[in-house]
Amino acid sequence: MNNGLPRPVTAVIIVAAGSGERLGYGMPKAAVPLGGEPILMHALRGVVASGVGSQVCVVLPPGADGLRDLCEDFREELADGGPVLTVLDGGATRADSVRAGIAALMDGIEAVLVHDAARALAPENVFHRVVDSLAAGALAVIPAIPVVDTVKMVARTSGDDAAIAPELVTGTAPREELRSVQTPQGFRLSTLQDAHAAASGFDEQQAAAVTDDAMLVEMLGVRVHAVHGSTQSLKITTPLDLIIAEGLLEGPLGIRWVEG
Ligand code: CTP
Ligand code: MG
Repeated sequence: MNNGLPRPVTAVIIVAAGSGERLGYGMPKAAVPLGGEPILMHALRGVVASGVGSQVCVVLPPGADGLRDLCEDFREELADGGPVLTVLDGGATRADSVRAGIAALMDGIEAVLVHDAARALAPENVFHRVVDSLAAGALAVIPAIPVVDTVKMVARTSGDDAAIAPELVTGTAPREELRSVQTPQGFRLSTLQDAHAAASGFDEQQAAAVTDDAMLVEMLGVRVHAVHGSTQSLKITTPLDLIIAEGLLEGPLGIRWVEG
């Protein structure tokens, strides 16, 4: 699992400050139950079990007292020698929440993994692949999986075309070159800091277009590497995703199933 190279001192920022609109539970997504426990607990346990972080920063929705209490209870569970657990409030956008996490990092941290709480079932192997890549010299590395669907570009139709269908196909992307990108995404600390500093002045439209951290690094012209992710790292976004995640935990395959 470990490539034998010395690993950087690493922190994991778990961003959990979203509202979970698309899941539609009327509560922050991190608090939504999965297999009888809040989604955040699965994410936290997974990160700690991987053992890759000297510090784990959990970024919560401001005022989410229940989630804060949950983290405090989890702190008690942590064995001596486990990671330092830091709990803080996030911001209006995911990038704001990541920046809040960066600001709370301890001295001595050399690399950072940014992980979505919503990818609560990400297997340990993925964390190790990302950290191994950082140890081998990557400034930025993301877990990615091949795309199964054919992906096409479309444009909205107008005039006569609009009476036929709302969109017209303008091209087909080469599927072999496409990847679905996941978290944890790993970065040398200075690379992540530079990327987020550059993005802090974005206007609302630019900020809305930021869907992961790696794209900010790409904008700096820094090379982003990709390691194999896992279908088990699905981002719980819609009710269907929650059903799938429940199935992974409790279905016939159960938690024995790890698509590493
Ligand atoms: N996130 C965050 N701070 C925000 C927005 C999102 O920390 N202001 C986190 C979410 O908690 C989640 C991850 O970023 O773990 C990915 O975001 P997403 O899946 O979009 O979650 P939500 O924003 O909560 O969901 P929705 O967009 O449906 O409201
Ligand atoms: Mg969101």
